[in-house]
Amino acid sequence: MTVLSDELIPNNVDLSSDRRLQRALEAWQPKFIDWWKEMGPDGFMAKDVFLRTAISVEASGWAHFDYVKMPDYRWGIFLEPRQADRKIGFGDHLGEPVWQEVPGEMRNMLRRLIVTQGDTEPASVEQQRLLGQTAPSLYDLRNLFQVNVEEGRHLWAMVYLLHTYFGRDGREEAEELLQRRSGDVDRPRILGAFNEPNNHWLSFFMFTMFTDRDGKYQLSSLSESGFDPLARTCRFMLTEEAHHMFVGETGVGRIVKRACELMKQPGGDVRAQGGIDLPTLQKYLNLWYTLSLDLFGGEISSNAADAFAAGLKGRHKEDRYAEHTVLDQSYGMNVVEQGTVVHKDVAMRTALNEVLRAEYIKDCQRALDRWNKTIAEEGLDFTIVLPSNRFHRQIGIYSDHAFTPGGELITRDAWNARRSEWLPTETDEVYVKSLMQPVVEPGKIAGWLAPPAKGINGLPEDFEYVRLA
Ligand SMILES: [Fe+2]
Ligand SMILES: [Fe+2]
Repeated sequence: MTVLSDELIPNNVDLSSDRRLQRALEAWQPKFIDWWKEMGPDGFMAKDVFLRTAISVEASGWAHFDYVKMPDYRWGIFLEPRQADRKIGFGDHLGEPVWQEVPGEMRNMLRRLIVTQGDTEPASVEQQRLLGQTAPSLYDLRNLFQVNVEEGRHLWAMVYLLHTYFGRDGREEAEELLQRRSGDVDRPRILGAFNEPNNHWLSFFMFTMFTDRDGKYQLSSLSESGFDPLARTCRFMLTEEAHHMFVGETGVGRIVKRACELMKQPGGDVRAQGGIDLPTLQKYLNLWYTLSLDLFGGEISSNAADAFAAGLKGRHKEDRYAEHTVLDQSYGMNVVEQGTVVHKDVAMRTALNEVLRAEYIKDCQRALDRWNKTIAEEGLDFTIVLPSNRFHRQIGIYSDHAFTPGGELITRDAWNARRSEWLPTETDEVYVKSLMQPVVEPGKIAGWLAPPAKGINGLPEDFEYVRLA
């Protein structure tokens, strides 16, 4: 059995003097490594990858960059430092001291929140498992692996909480996090988007843009938690998450840029020149954006109300709000009644999933504005749009109805007849996959993608980010 030292597991939780945690992790760590080798990036375990590793929580020097073989990555455990006298910032326990141990009556709800978050981390690694084989450049290949190892660390972060605060149930949950598999019929991952196939780099960039961004908002609301170890853990995870969204937003942006360049060539047919045309990009956006909207849960949700009341899950940046119980407040949303969409006020606590989703939508739109600016600067006429939050939903009050991307209620038959205009078809999928030929020479890039604006950590673009030789 591996002996877990501070050297092997960088941490700020005093692991070397916590025998109980060491024992739990010593039993779990070999299973994690087995899982990583079985379900992590296929075909690259023996390669040197230029990766960043979290080694402290100091803003100035939290990350260390060097070549490492992925199974040797030092998955660490970091919590933001404790703030003295921190108080619960919302809900029924507003103003009480935060909890350092799990209050008994909140145990089940809290465990479910941690397990649900934790489950997404290995799930995304599983979904992205084969993408290394078709990377458009060494720069992108390295970014994929960076995202993968950090999702592995996020799993460690949640397992740390389960092992430390939930005793035997926690250890069982930690095992199950390694047993479920993305897309498996018998033991799928918990949330829908994390069981969807992520077959190529267009989906990868959409996933890191939209699905990792859901992660940002979930972590942000959990970082408000009255359970202090969860809040501190999630705050540190957000540091890493920023890079994942950077990969997504700039990845899509580079596809857009390349499409524009090809549109300006004689004839202007993007596909004929081996690019991803903007209408196709829009369809994949429609798919991953709506799958990600579902991750926020139902528009009207008693679970959301309970977690807020209990002080376990707050709003994004709770400090911005003047009032923190929201007991007398309501929230207006569109609901379907007798075949039409009507505006209705619902009790604020039950609407908190929708409040968080609205923040997320604003954040997504900011990225679209930047992509659209690129298109306009290239002198072209096309606007990438976010579909209505009612379109293509599988969770919540809109999921029983069919809506166009513009938000118009239509019959299911009419929707099915137009599906291929709005969402990727088999033909689109075959075409996009046909572009996915690996490019592994330093500084070279696939023809459907523009080069990055700059390299990683100040390094040149033609740096050998992954040593394949
Ligand atoms: Fe994550
Ligand atoms: Fe992420």
